[in-house]
Amino acid sequence: MSSSLAPLVLKPLEGVEAAKRAAAYASVDNHVLPEHKVVGIGSGSTVPYVVERIVQQGPKVNAARWFVPTGFQSKELIVQAGLNLGDVDSFPVIDVTIDGADEVDPSLNCIKGGGACQLREKVLAEAAKTFIVVADYRKESPQLGQKWTQGVPIEVAQFAYASVMRKLEALGGKPVLRMGGGAKAGPCVTDNSGFVIDCPFPASSFSSPSDLLAKIKLMTGVVEVGLFCDVAKAAYFGNADGTITSRT
Ligand code: 5RP
Repeated sequence: MSSSLAPLVLKPLEGVEAAKRAAAYASVDNHVLPEHKVVGIGSGSTVPYVVERIVQQGPKVNAARWFVPTGFQSKELIVQAGLNLGDVDSFPVIDVTIDGADEVDPSLNCIKGGGACQLREKVLAEAAKTFIVVADYRKESPQLGQKWTQGVPIEVAQFAYASVMRKLEALGGKPVLRMGGGAKAGPCVTDNSGFVIDCPFPASSFSSPSDLLAKIKLMTGVVEVGLFCDVAKAAYFGNADGTITSRT
């Protein structure tokens, strides 16, 4: 993939960081087009390189755009980059959303929510005409659950966490309530005031990620599930040497 953008002098990166930047740059070069006026910005450590590349497209094109974040981190990225901050109330249809992932299978089903943003991430993914995933080479997987072994992140209403955990166990999972910054900090609380349960499942449960998603979504108290099925149009995986592998 090539870009017509003039190369900037940036700190050279190695290994995983080089991979993240390569994936992010390729996603922007191929999918954030001059005619796109509303762009969704996801969460995680790969997304800052997405914003870095968007800024390189220049103030003229970006002044005519709105950028919608998936959470506090991406809101800060947008503001600090001097880009126009929008929200999904004002922009329920987004031209393109780019976000990271914790694991991606060959059908582009993803586990997301390692950063506890899965509800807002899914709203922005589904609001987008095009949803693109960016990740480093460690995230590409033959089947979900093999690389991201800490489990499917599930956001729940605080009141319901214990009953949802029982139902997840009945489904064959091994749910763990995610804690915040250490045991004394108590449970991790999302941007929507929910708790997060991380739930590993046996490999057989991932033979149909969309069936697993449907079962978990039906549990009373579940707000959103970090399984993204049939949403991504393309995935860019950065390699340690700075090249990329793209999947559609
Ligand atoms: C946060 C997410 C992130 O996109 C996911 O965890 C990937 O993060 P990173 O780019 O740091 O690997 O889903 O909820």
